[in-house]
Amino acid sequence: MLRASLTSIAKGARTALAAFALLGLAVVLLPSDALAQAQSVNPTASAVTEEQLLQALRPGGEIAGRVSIPDQKATGLIKPGGQDWRAFHQGAMFWITTVALLGMVAIVLAFYAVRGKITIDSGLSGMKILRFNAFERFVHWLTAGSFLILALTGLNLVLGRFVLMPLFGAEAFATATQIGKYAHNYLAWPFMAGLVFMLAVWIKDNIPDRTDVAWLKAGGGLLKKGVHPDAKKFNAGQKGIFWSVIIGGAALSVTGVLLLFPYLAGGYADWQLVQIIHGIVAAVLVAIMVGHIYIGSVGMQGAFDAMGSGEVDYNWAREHHSLWAEEARRAQGGASPGTPGAHPAPQPAE
Ligand code: HEM
Repeated sequence: MLRASLTSIAKGARTALAAFALLGLAVVLLPSDALAQAQSVNPTASAVTEEQLLQALRPGGEIAGRVSIPDQKATGLIKPGGQDWRAFHQGAMFWITTVALLGMVAIVLAFYAVRGKITIDSGLSGMKILRFNAFERFVHWLTAGSFLILALTGLNLVLGRFVLMPLFGAEAFATATQIGKYAHNYLAWPFMAGLVFMLAVWIKDNIPDRTDVAWLKAGGGLLKKGVHPDAKKFNAGQKGIFWSVIIGGAALSVTGVLLLFPYLAGGYADWQLVQIIHGIVAAVLVAIMVGHIYIGSVGMQGAFDAMGSGEVDYNWAREHHSLWAEEARRAQGGASPGTPGAHPAPQPAE
């Protein structure tokens, strides 16, 4: 009797041992992702609730399904990181852009209210000197033209949904945004070419030096009529604009190319970071350019000519770029206006 029970216990123990061994073997042989799938919530099970799915998500985790194609990235169904990114894009990004843009518009309006249009104190001289040759102007307008469209179509992606869609309706907004997206993708290339040319033609005139310190100490002469600190071809303010365009433009170019070709940039989290950097740099650069466009057009008498015809009035040059004006006048063979017998050179103003 006792012998029979001992035999049956030994048999049972052997069976249990075999079962454990089999289980162990299965754990060792099963691929780790299959195990992970076995442990995680099955998103396609009919009994699974959204609540369960969301609870299953750890920070940085995701709910993944199964695909029969080689690209395993396509298994992603829900990523809490994506929800955080969307909240940032529609919240913080919207406000950063709005504050940067409206803040700069407010600064420009306040500057205009206090200082008014900056005029040429000594009046027009009647003599013109060449400030930017045709290639420099081409480079400026290539960069500026493409940047303006990139800025408008980019701003549309951040603000349009809230500002334009309610005005024009979802359908018109979607069509315009689609066209804008293509323009944004393609105009990035002339903008990048413009940056490279701009760096090549103007870097030598944009190295900071001592005259910049004195110019900055005098507030650039911008705040007070009749104050004209010395400046070479570009003053300290313009050097700031130049380097903002080059450094900001380079950051936009690198992040923009990564967004155009996302598989160069890694995974979802990397794309989100790249897009956040792209958006913030763009907002800051657009704001800076609002100030530049104001001074280069309606804010300062005689400034636009430099990028229009390429020639500026000598008195404008003397007041804003004294050291360059003298050098350029001599190089272009002109005599100082006011000198007895002086000929307006190289070309008289109309
Ligand atoms: C309608 C728009 C614009 C106007 C009217 C304008 C006008 C001007 C003018 C008149 C100058 C020459 C200033 C001088 O003689 O000292 C200039 C220079 C320059 N512009 Fe523009 N510009 C515009 C847009 C842009 C944009 C979008 C960019 C870049 C993204 C840009 C980049 C520059 C740079 C780097 C310089 C040389 C540095 C400086 O003068 O500030 N411009 N612009």
